[in-house]
Amino acid sequence: MRVAVVGGGASGTAIHRALTEHGAKPELFSRTTGFDVLRDDAPARLAEAEVIVEATGRFTISRRAATEFFTRSTRAVAAAARASGARHILLSIVNGDLPQVQGYGYLAGKTAQERVARQESPNLTIVRSTQWFEFAGQNIDRMKIGPIALVPAMTIQPVALDAVADVIADAATGVRTGALHEVAGPEATTLWDMTTQLSDKRVTPIPLRIPSRYGRAFRDGTLLPAPGIEVAGPRYTEWLNARSA
Ligand SMILES: NC(=O)c1ccc[n+]([C@@H]2O[C@H](COP(=O)([O-])OP(=O)(O)OC[C@H]3O[C@@H](n4cnc5c(N)ncnc54)[C@H](OP(=O)(O)O)[C@@H]3O)[C@@H](O)[C@H]2O)c1
Repeated sequence: MRVAVVGGGASGTAIHRALTEHGAKPELFSRTTGFDVLRDDAPARLAEAEVIVEATGRFTISRRAATEFFTRSTRAVAAAARASGARHILLSIVNGDLPQVQGYGYLAGKTAQERVARQESPNLTIVRSTQWFEFAGQNIDRMKIGPIALVPAMTIQPVALDAVADVIADAATGVRTGALHEVAGPEATTLWDMTTQLSDKRVTPIPLRIPSRYGRAFRDGTLLPAPGIEVAGPRYTEWLNARSA
């Protein structure tokens, strides 16, 4: 089975591994491999795939920029999927569509992306996960200012990206069916605790209390999954230990 994985970085690599282990033939499509989802030729370049996994990302807190990027990415993938009959699997975020967090431009963009995907992609599966264990390192990269990195106060139930990639591979290869899968890790924590357990000492973490409705929602656990969500993967400490072994 030919699977196009659109987007690179950490998630693309993990999804590629999981798909290969499931016996599929994945191919990575991102600017690093000479593919730009925002270019007019993007749908045609995806024509050979039977399944297209959309895992593109652009970090911004601007609602306008996030909405433009994520909806354009999804329109291109949906056009490819409609033209060829491919299935479309979109990677998204648990509780990212709640009203309390729409003031955060990135999540407003993801909400618009899911809406466009449902409107334009007839064979759609959305895989939503909570924040990944890798998110602590991603946040450092994104919020680094010289020798410090700001760490927003967030209460979350993170999950190993490899466990999310396995769910995506199951959905791509037909092991799982259904239009929506939601997955979280085994325990709730804070982004601060995750960050201070990293062995990466490049920067000094500084706690950031975000004012506003969404800042309060991040702190008060609004992003935590509902009881009964599928739980997958190791605990954060087990994951850290395995990485440093
Ligand atoms: N991080 C989390 O904790 C988390 C949790 C749940 C869901 N998600 C979702 O998972 C998706 C991937 O997240 P991520 O954190 O891996 O994102 P990311 O690191 O910001 O970006 C993923 C990849 O998108 C590719 N990309 C960017 N612009 C592109 C373009 N114009 N054309 C083609 N590829 C492009 C980039 O590869 P190139 O530079 O090679 O183009 C980049 O490595 C996002 O939709 C995110 O919302 C993330």
